[in-house]
Amino acid sequence: MEGKVCVVTGANTGIGYETAKALAAKGASVILVCRTTEKGQRTVDRIREATGSTKVTAVAADLAVQDQIRKAAAAIRVQHPRIDVLVNNAGIWLSDLRLTKEGVETQFAVNHLAYFLLTHELLPALSRSDDGRIVCVSSDSHFQTHIHFDDLNLTHRYHGLRAYAQSKRANVLFVRELNRRLRARGMNQLTINAVQPGLVKTDIGVKHTISLHSLAWKVRRAGGVTPAEGARTNIFLASSPVVQGVSGQYWDKCVPKRSARETYDPETARRLWDICEKLTDITDYFEGVTPTDEAPSADATAPAPANTPS
Ligand SMILES: NC(=O)c1ccc[n+]([C@@H]2O[C@H](COP(=O)([O-])OP(=O)(O)OC[C@H]3O[C@@H](n4cnc5c(N)ncnc54)[C@H](OP(=O)(O)O)[C@@H]3O)[C@@H](O)[C@H]2O)c1
Repeated sequence: MEGKVCVVTGANTGIGYETAKALAAKGASVILVCRTTEKGQRTVDRIREATGSTKVTAVAADLAVQDQIRKAAAAIRVQHPRIDVLVNNAGIWLSDLRLTKEGVETQFAVNHLAYFLLTHELLPALSRSDDGRIVCVSSDSHFQTHIHFDDLNLTHRYHGLRAYAQSKRANVLFVRELNRRLRARGMNQLTINAVQPGLVKTDIGVKHTISLHSLAWKVRRAGGVTPAEGARTNIFLASSPVVQGVSGQYWDKCVPKRSARETYDPETARRLWDICEKLTDITDYFEGVTPTDEAPSADATAPAPANTPS
């Protein structure tokens, strides 16, 4: 990964921290996107100490706030006109309905819309890489619900787990739709994949949940793997030469697998895409991206052979 530039969101803890640390250890320049400057700087120091890398920096953004995502992306683009890897990892689990200042349910905003918007903002830089990779951390919980197009905020029947599952289903639909659009434009040097990290012992279920959910998560996560183990598929997709050019897949333990049936439906993916463009005020998702003359490749979405991470 020497010479590569990687951006990892939610990098101060859990799966994101382990992903960022591993990429730094492999020699990449890593930009951490963290909620505050303090968390970012603390994590830069920790990763530098753990890996000896001097190529780790941080930018601050509350990913529930679209303006902050745009500002963070602009700061990254100034420093790094070319980006090789974007790991959309930051995520949240809330028990209660909370709306962002843009009026969006917070889990949908952070877990999905932030992926959608940050990817758009960094797309011109990602498209300059000859092996650009976008990795979106989803979850098998996406199997548990569908997209509630009639009430995306779930105002009428809110349940934190349903909202979480919906946001994770949106991740897979986004991966499928952006993959389709990249191939249609002949942008075969840029890939996008979704990841199920498994059940991982992190604090995601205790930070913003009621005591009952927090207790349930503590019991459940006891059977999970370590954050380092949970980061393996992210690291594999971000760095292994084996997956160069492989795109549009849902990955678990470094192997592609089937996602929920609805996530293969192009109409659902397009419908969600249109809503996300409206919610983020994007009129041209590919604005600033240099067009390519390359012909679309028919097999760009073919599953890669099963492999263990390097
Ligand atoms: N743990 C699991 O079993 C599991 C299973 C399937 C999928 N996942 C997915 O894995 C990803 C990482 O989760 P994790 O388990 O590692 O949880 P985690 O330890 O809680 O890490 C989540 C990260 O996202 C950041 N984040 C959340 N809301 C943010 C916001 N508004 N602005 C900026 N940063 C924000 C957190 O920052 P703060 O520290 O400031 O809150 C933290 O760095 C998530 O997408 C999650 O859905 C996890």
